Amino acid sequence: MAFITLASNDSYALGALVWAASLRRVGTTKDIAILVTNGVSDSLRNVLPKFFNHIELVNVLESPDPSILEALKRPELNITLTKLHCWKLTQYSKCVFMDADTLVVKNIDELFEKEELSAVSDIGWPDCFNSGVFVFVPSQQTFANLTSLAAKEGGSFDGGDQGLLNTYFSDWATRDINRHLSFIYNMQFASCSYSYAPAFKRFGDKVKVIHFLGSVKPWHYTGSEHANEFIKKWWSMYFSEVHPKIESLSDVGSLSSTIQSMSIQAAADESSVVDDRSASSANWQGQNVPFEVIQKKLDASIQKP
Ligand code: UDP
Ligand code: GLC
Ligand code: MN
Repeated sequence: MAFITLASNDSYALGALVWAASLRRVGTTKDIAILVTNGVSDSLRNVLPKFFNHIELVNVLESPDPSILEALKRPELNITLTKLHCWKLTQYSKCVFMDADTLVVKNIDELFEKEELSAVSDIGWPDCFNSGVFVFVPSQQTFANLTSLAAKEGGSFDGGDQGLLNTYFSDWATRDINRHLSFIYNMQFASCSYSYAPAFKRFGDKVKVIHFLGSVKPWHYTGSEHANEFIKKWWSMYFSEVHPKIESLSDVGSLSSTIQSMSIQAAADESSVVDDRSASSANWQGQNVPFEVIQKKLDASIQKP
C-alpha cells in the first residue's frame, strides 16, 4: 500500500519533497511514491530517491478542453488529468493520492481501511469531493475507463481531474456515507481563514492534513513576515527535513532564489534576537546560514506537529 503524489515541474516537486517528509515525520508505515513528468529538472529528479520508495515517470495527460479551466482561473491545472496514471500502480493493493500542496501533520495510515473512492467534501460544492486527497484501488480497467471518459465531451466539468473523478464516481454524494472522509483529512486551507473561523477555532487542533489549495502555494512565499502558522509549518518542515538532504541549492533549480531569500529572511529575524554576527548581508548566502539558527526561528513561532 502506498501514498502517491504528482509533480510536473520543480515547484510542485519541491512541494512533493516536503509532503513526503511530513508523512515520514508522522511515522507512516506505507510506501511513498511519486508520479513525475519530464517537466521536473534532472537535478531535482536526482534528489527524489532520498524521499520516495517508488518514482514513476509518466507522460502528461492534458485536459481536452482547457477553456473550461477559465472558470477556475487556473490554466495551470490543465495537466491534472496526469494524476489518472496513479490507477496504473497495480503493484499496490490500495493507495491514497495526495496533492503535492498538502502537508500531513498527524498520522493518517487509518485511511487505508477506507474503500475506493473515499474523499473529503469540496468547500466550493460540498456534494462534490475535493480530489486533493482520495483513497483508490489501482486497476488498469479503471484507468482505461477514466481516460475514455476524459476524452468525451463534458467528461470533466472543471477541466481538471476533480470534475472527471466526480463524474465517474458520481455516487460518492449519495451512497455509502463511510466514503465521506472528515474535513480533518483535507483541510482546504484557503477556506478556513474566512468562512470557518469559529469551527476552525473549535476543531482546528484535530486537523491531520493541511491542503494549500489555490494559486498561491507555500513555496511562493519569500519572506516569513507574510506567512501564517501553516505556511511557517510548511517551511519548518522544508528546513528540518528537506534542505539538509539537498546538496546544493542548485538541486532545486529555479526555486533556489526563493529558498535563499526565505532562509535569509528567517535568519535575519533570528539575528535580531541572537547576535549581530550573522546580521551582515555578507554572511547571508542561504547555504551559509547556520541551519539551527533558521530552524530555531521558525520553530519558535509554531508548534511541531
Ligand atoms: N500539479 C502538478 N503540476 C502543475 C499543477 C498541478 O504537478 O502544474 C499536480 C500537483 O500534485 C498538485 C495537483 O496536481 O498538487 C493539483 O493542483 P493544485 O494543488 O495546484 O490544485 P488546487 O488544489 O490548488 O486546486
Ligand atoms: C481541485 C483540487 C485539485 C484538482 C483541481 C483540478 O481544486 O484541489 O486537486 O487537481 O481542482 O481539478
Ligand atoms: Mn492542491
